[in-house]
Amino acid sequence: MMKESKASAELNRIQIRVTPPGPEAKKIVKRDHDVLAKSTKSLPIVARRARGGVFVEDVDGNVYLDMASGISVTNLGHVHPPRVTARVEEQLRKLWHFAGTDFYYEEQVLAAEELVSVTPGSFRKKVFFTNSGTESNEAAIKIAKAATGKQQFIGFIGGFHGRTQGSLSFTASKPIQKKGFFPPSMPGVEHVPFPDPYRNPFGIDGYEEPEELVNRTIDYIDRFVLKTYLPPENVAGFLVEPIQGEGGYVVPPKGFLRSLKKLADENGILLMVDEVQTGFGRTGKFFASEHFGIEPEVLTVAKAIASGIPMGAAIVHERLDFPESGLHSNTFGGNVLASVACIETIRVMKEEKVLDNVNRVGGPYLKKRLQELSERYECIGDVRGGIGLMLAIDFVRDRKTKEPARELRDRVEYKAFENGLILLSTGQSAIRIIPPLIITEEQADMGVEALERAIKASI
Ligand SMILES: Cc1ncc(COP(=O)(O)O)c(C=O)c1O
Repeated sequence: MMKESKASAELNRIQIRVTPPGPEAKKIVKRDHDVLAKSTKSLPIVARRARGGVFVEDVDGNVYLDMASGISVTNLGHVHPPRVTARVEEQLRKLWHFAGTDFYYEEQVLAAEELVSVTPGSFRKKVFFTNSGTESNEAAIKIAKAATGKQQFIGFIGGFHGRTQGSLSFTASKPIQKKGFFPPSMPGVEHVPFPDPYRNPFGIDGYEEPEELVNRTIDYIDRFVLKTYLPPENVAGFLVEPIQGEGGYVVPPKGFLRSLKKLADENGILLMVDEVQTGFGRTGKFFASEHFGIEPEVLTVAKAIASGIPMGAAIVHERLDFPESGLHSNTFGGNVLASVACIETIRVMKEEKVLDNVNRVGGPYLKKRLQELSERYECIGDVRGGIGLMLAIDFVRDRKTKEPARELRDRVEYKAFENGLILLSTGQSAIRIIPPLIITEEQADMGVEALERAIKASI
């Protein structure tokens, strides 16, 4: 599956014909700025079409290697041929939409059945379908409140859970996310430190002393929060990412999530795990929770679950299902097209052994290539991740102080774009490397070479 034919290899490579953004791209960027509200735009790349699973052509004919995957959405590659695309095309001629929250159709049931079959947890589960990550977390928050009768929560500094009012109350990875929106419309969310091995408020080198970092973090939550001012009887749940995504691709020490689950269980608090970015094969297993040995009773997903047709879900232990109908609903959740894309995405992942490729090209290969870069360039302070194809490099002014080099990071991201490589920044000074999960070693090399050219041109 991963081998390309000679002809397609010739077509599918980085080709920069005109320094981007080219003239056609510039025109569309201007029109976009005239009519679209501001969001979080980064690079001025204007896509025209996919070229092979991991390449994208822009409106000026430049071809880029995509190591952003539409923010970890196109995990099977763009326009997955022939299965996901063919199944959606077939469905387009049959039925598009029928309001799956109010009526019935088999595709939604099948999508939920497939989804629970790959979700960790040896218990029966229920699925609530949404259209995005933030909506999945909104659903999870309401489910936790309804099931426990409690109204307060604990989130983590550096966490990202979305930008609607409930999930925004948890989001804490950049000041701009809440600027002018304070106080959050959903009160009752307290934030505690996440055990970031590289930069944490405890001053511990978490790579050298992972257990100490976990103990200090758990002790802080237990003694200084739950036993000091926030009674566990008030707390419905912890909401946590197994690996912080927008916060900088921060991988906690291996034992953290298990210790957090233990603390949650001891205090009658739910552990709610947000796998919107880490899920669907990104880490080499269907879900990152599996790496950390936990079976969350509340797990949220979105992004890659339908290969780019908007879809999300909150997947919960069946005992947590809403006590009565009408407490939550939406119009598009479990939409027919999204459902068939989700079913086919899961089947492709299982049958085409996509995870094997992630585990071969991710940690063992790509991470090593990035570590080699960090040996050559002092400005790379940390190479993170490598559990699968979820990697990041962090730029620093000084390796000793670890002071973030944000401007340099931004320059590298832009120069990479000019060199035909699409990257996305994350956290204060990191760049994430998240190619489609079908990337080959040769294509990964192509990306690392373009990245190195960008670093050289930026320092
Ligand atoms: C971990 C996590 N949760 C939630 C979200 C929000 O998802 P969406 O942008 O689909 O609302 C994101 C988006 O990046 C995310 O990374």
